[in-house]
Amino acid sequence: MSLQKILLRFEPKPENLLRVLKAVQKENKYIGKKECEQVAEYFSAPLARVYSFASFFSGIRTKKEDKKIIRVCSGGPCLSEDSSKVAHQIEMLLHIEAGNDAHPKYKLEYMSCLGLCDRGPVVMVDENIFEKVKPENVDDIIQSYL
Ligand code: FES
Repeated sequence: MSLQKILLRFEPKPENLLRVLKAVQKENKYIGKKECEQVAEYFSAPLARVYSFASFFSGIRTKKEDKKIIRVCSGGPCLSEDSSKVAHQIEMLLHIEAGNDAHPKYKLEYMSCLGLCDRGPVVMVDENIFEKVKPENVDDIIQSYL
């Protein structure tokens, strides 16, 4: 789907900016300068504002990434449901460390709240969201992406 078609699904109101960025990322895998420029034009907003808004959210990627990105929510409600144990299980399974960029195929990051707090712990693999993830579910989730 073209970026223009994605934009036209939303009214150019400030409250829709994050939804638009997520929709663009879902289609493009990341939001680069070209996409930010088009979004800024559509919202009649300064490019710097759109780019800084996109950069602020850990779930939005502003750079192309060839690695499989796995994100674990570190918001309070997800942490209280043991999201850190889920992250640890991912580290053990893939022999990676959260925040360490050394692995050639995978990257594990913590992300801020996605607003799905009642369905935590929440894990994202690229653009796919998994809810109520338990450490014992990690293997199945990861295996489906290997
Ligand atoms: S705290 Fe994890 S989705 Fe809100």
